[in-house]
Amino acid sequence: MESFSGGHDPCFQYSSSVKEKATMKSYRDRSYARWRTYGHSCFSGFYRIRLLIVFSFVFAATLLLTRASSLMGWSRDHQTPQVPFRSRYTVVINTWKRNDLLKRSISHYSACQGVDAIRIVWSEPNVPTERLRTSVENLVSVASRKKDEFISVQFDIHVNDDLNNRFKPLDDLRTDAILSIDDDVLVPCSTLETAFSVWTSAPHSMVGFVPRMHWVKAKNPSFGSYEYSYGGWWSVWWMGTYSMVLSKAAFIHKKYLDLYTNELPASIRQYVKDERNCEDIAMSFLVANETGAPPIWIKTRIYEIGSTGISSLQGHSEHRTDCINHFVTLFGSMPLVASNVKVADARHLWFW
Ligand SMILES: *[C@@H]1O[C@H](CO)[C@@H](O)[C@H](O)[C@H]1NC(C)=O
Repeated sequence: MESFSGGHDPCFQYSSSVKEKATMKSYRDRSYARWRTYGHSCFSGFYRIRLLIVFSFVFAATLLLTRASSLMGWSRDHQTPQVPFRSRYTVVINTWKRNDLLKRSISHYSACQGVDAIRIVWSEPNVPTERLRTSVENLVSVASRKKDEFISVQFDIHVNDDLNNRFKPLDDLRTDAILSIDDDVLVPCSTLETAFSVWTSAPHSMVGFVPRMHWVKAKNPSFGSYEYSYGGWWSVWWMGTYSMVLSKAAFIHKKYLDLYTNELPASIRQYVKDERNCEDIAMSFLVANETGAPPIWIKTRIYEIGSTGISSLQGHSEHRTDCINHFVTLFGSMPLVASNVKVADARHLWFW
């Protein structure tokens, strides 16, 4: 202390004199005396040095937090080198009479890393107009040029309006991975990268962003089996348990398209077609029956750009409950497996 007081500062002069008079006193007592005697002007002079030290610490810490990763060559946006086709996926967009949403979603997904192709499941009575085709192709070619990676885009035209169309096997797929997505759902590209890397570790699982649950409602006495009810996002949020991820935003293996169309009991597909609902629950049943394991939920925010989805209709939950109970009967068992695991991108978590 004395060495850098220089003798001009009354605070530090005093501290020296106190030291002479009260050599037996402890350091803590001395500083207490000094602080009391000299009041504000002196206190602030001393305090300024402390403040400076504190600020330097804060500044250094901030600098460290913001710069350390780059000094060390740790970039959060580091791209691992892309290996062409195993590290890519095909986006399969299910659309219905919402060309503006379709275009928005195509321009979003074509900009994401790892997209190999975009396939549009088209079940409308009229074929896509030349104008729509041209604008879709333009969107994709602009994105391809920006990324310097060729992305193809194709309409898959279906003659009838059937919800099962979204799971029809696709010709000329170059990837095993499919991102099944609705035309009104936007998932951030960064989350897609996370989810896709999870999928590559568990390629037989469904990896998605919208979790749902089946709850046991009652034991059905006549069959000795259970009656289930459908749990929406509210119950998943409350209980932290899920057993399905919806195919409106999920990665699946392309083999499930074939299994859905050719192996799933036809009565289930018929039910989906007639009720115009629950193709996603049917797919969840199928995958759970194949794997005997729960799906994987990736933590993210998704953006629903159209607000007239089927889930906003009255009685949605009752319909879904009916679907689950029907499918259990048609399947002969309840294949869904519950999970409490939520996967998050470690770059966006502050606490270990
Ligand atoms: C469920 O899985 C079992 C065992 O792999 C299989 O034999 C059965 O056909 C599957 N059920 C359905 C409805 O796909």
